[in-house]
Amino acid sequence: MHQSPQAPIGMFDSGLGGLTVANALMRRMPAESLLYFGDTARVPYGPKSPDTVRRYALQIGEWLVSQGVKCIVVACNTATAHALDVLQSSLPVPVIGVVEPGARAAVRASRIGPIGVIGTSGTIASGAYTRAIQQQSPGTTVLAAACPLFVPLVEEGWVDHPASRLIAHEYLASMRDAQVDTLVLGCTHYPLLAPLLAAEMGPRVRLIDSAEETAVEVERVLADRGVLNQGDPEHVEKPTHRFVASDAPRHFLALGGRFLDVPISAVEYHVFS
Ligand code: DGL
Repeated sequence: MHQSPQAPIGMFDSGLGGLTVANALMRRMPAESLLYFGDTARVPYGPKSPDTVRRYALQIGEWLVSQGVKCIVVACNTATAHALDVLQSSLPVPVIGVVEPGARAAVRASRIGPIGVIGTSGTIASGAYTRAIQQQSPGTTVLAAACPLFVPLVEEGWVDHPASRLIAHEYLASMRDAQVDTLVLGCTHYPLLAPLLAAEMGPRVRLIDSAEETAVEVERVLADRGVLNQGDPEHVEKPTHRFVASDAPRHFLALGGRFLDVPISAVEYHVFS
């Protein structure tokens, strides 16, 4: 399927968290238009079974293709962990997930290991990060921990709240004991907790947010296929971003600003029957 450089980049997440990846894409490729789908009617994906997440991801992927996107970014760690392979084999456009890029950035940042990974229950149970890190750096010890309460805390805006600090202290105990030198924030929401997590882990530990590395990967894939939109230096044309949610657009509008660095002016509504 050939697309023009002007076609939008499609991306999706279970909800709003993937907007942290949208920020990175906008920063790295300012001429690109984005079509972002947030599955706010069915969030969270973290505790759901792999089959259910795969079904949701395929529905959304097919819909994004029907909207004319030139590639799809799975801006959700849980959906990447469970559904990247099925999306890549079923859809006619390149599909890029966040796990590989995050693992690559962690391997690059780590000096002696071990590497810690935190994410939703689904992401951690899938073992996707551990596999990806050990594929790139065989022999590296990887410690993984599910932190299911972090998502609701971030959505509540409690990114610097004593309760969040207490919970982080508890969740990260095994990471501190093992003296990880790198911690992968394997969930779209966790970058918003980065200052609190950094304080908890101490200055020796590098925190990895896969968003930046994912943007590098997307740029490379688009350039390889000759569909990277570099903009026209003669005409400063603004990209058009579309935001679509499967539940109450008002909620998306109200909370989206916590995740996205630019204002969201409108949110469309699309529901899967
Ligand atoms: N977007 C999900 C992730 O990155 C977190 C929210 C959810 O559980 O759906 O894993």
